[in-house]
Amino acid sequence: MSAANQLLQEEINQLLNGRENLRVLEAGCGSVSHIKIPNSGELVGIDISEKQLQRNEKLSEKIVGDLQTYPLGKNQYDVIVSWDVLEHLDNPKDALNNLFESVADKGIIVLAAPNIVSIKGVVTKLLSHSMQVAFYRYVIGDKRAGIDDQGPFKTYLRKAMWPDQVKKAALEKGLIVPYMNKYEGPVPAHLREKHKLVDILFGFIGAVSRTILGKNRDLTHSDYMIILQRP
Ligand SMILES: C[S@@+](CC[C@H](N)C(=O)[O-])C[C@H]1O[C@@H](n2cnc3c(N)ncnc32)[C@H](O)[C@@H]1O
Repeated sequence: MSAANQLLQEEINQLLNGRENLRVLEAGCGSVSHIKIPNSGELVGIDISEKQLQRNEKLSEKIVGDLQTYPLGKNQYDVIVSWDVLEHLDNPKDALNNLFESVADKGIIVLAAPNIVSIKGVVTKLLSHSMQVAFYRYVIGDKRAGIDDQGPFKTYLRKAMWPDQVKKAALEKGLIVPYMNKYEGPVPAHLREKHKLVDILFGFIGAVSRTILGKNRDLTHSDYMIILQRP
């Protein structure tokens, strides 16, 4: 587990401490989970791709549906996790409102997504989908990229899913934000490890952006994680 995932996991464990038999929704579940929900009872997954759902072996209930429109219902889930999904939605605001409504009292929503205000965010926004597939296949070395709903998925990175906008929208709906972290995600970390020049360049850009924009605006922080809670 990466350091960022570990930090998030500790925060989740603390927030859910003492709670049992939790009803969990993985929204845009794909085929894998990245964090463990302690004392989870039922694990429901929704995804627009039937193939992704078929590959997921952890779920107790599978829903083929579009997060932006599927009626998840009010106060349904104690924990909602949506990991690397918001960037793929044409209308993330509708999906977020759906999740905000569907989380139960004292429940939490865990979101992970790319940060647009970063080198990776801007490059991703500029690349067409076929260029992204080529990047994952030939630069990252993922031979399955673009095949059989294995990703990369079409990416929009709409403003409503930018980290500060998500926080604002959640606060407006009466949720609180116990945790937020912007960090260097797996893709830039992989590239830095593989190529010395990229490592030096990213190190330089990170230092310059922190100096000019402030320590919370590091352009190498390609991803964010946020926990929202209904009080
Ligand atoms: C990058 S994958 C992430 C999957 C999984 N959460 C993970 O972290 O491995 C994005 C997932 O979002 C799903 N997805 C894309 N648009 C969706 C939508 N409108 N409603 C539900 N799921 C969607 C895709 O099918 C895919 O499984």
